[in-house]
Amino acid sequence: MEIFLDTADINEIKLYKNFIDGVTTNPTLMAKASGGDYVSVAKEICNIVSGPVSVEVTAQTREAMLSEALEIAKISEQVCVKLPCTFDGLEICRTLSKKGISTNMTLCFSPLQALMAAKCGATYVSPFVGRLDDICQDGVNLIEEIVNIFDAYGYETRVLAASIRGVQHFADVAAIGVDAITVPSKILKQCFEHPLTTKGLEIFNNDWNNVSKK
Ligand code: E4P
Repeated sequence: MEIFLDTADINEIKLYKNFIDGVTTNPTLMAKASGGDYVSVAKEICNIVSGPVSVEVTAQTREAMLSEALEIAKISEQVCVKLPCTFDGLEICRTLSKKGISTNMTLCFSPLQALMAAKCGATYVSPFVGRLDDICQDGVNLIEEIVNIFDAYGYETRVLAASIRGVQHFADVAAIGVDAITVPSKILKQCFEHPLTTKGLEIFNNDWNNVSKK
């Protein structure tokens, strides 16, 4: 299972670089971290991690999106061009796939959008778990449906669980066998912690300190 960090914050990426396979960004995260110059930030991220780095297009029309996508692809061979799961986004995905450029199809909320991404040769498709839960739909169930469809037809597109809001989401999609996940650093941090580990260490340390005094 690939684990990506969902951030454009350089310090967070440096802190967790040994535990992640790559990074995903989006315009909201880039706006927070880059002050507008997302190309420089993307280059810096590519210098820190050796795996895929998703960088999303911001252009609105198909022509502008395609030329932006081609520019993003030039940043580094590590870059995965992130495109929305819309008609235009999927058309561009098909074009980029034919050129051997990696893609990450984002804002996926249905099994059929994921199926279209696979048909267009996407490298990754990113179904949004948390944003579906927010509107009282089952985001984890969407991951299961997509994983089953891709398994049934042998699609190579990798399912990347996104919009992860807690460690339970992480554990649930891992149990389903999702190919990849992207998590914010506050959730990754919790993967190294358990109250019983903290308490157990305290007990062991106290016991050891007491015996060594005797
Ligand atoms: C990643 O590809 C997405 O942009 C991200 O996971 C969205 O998460 P959010 O719904 O918490 O903003």
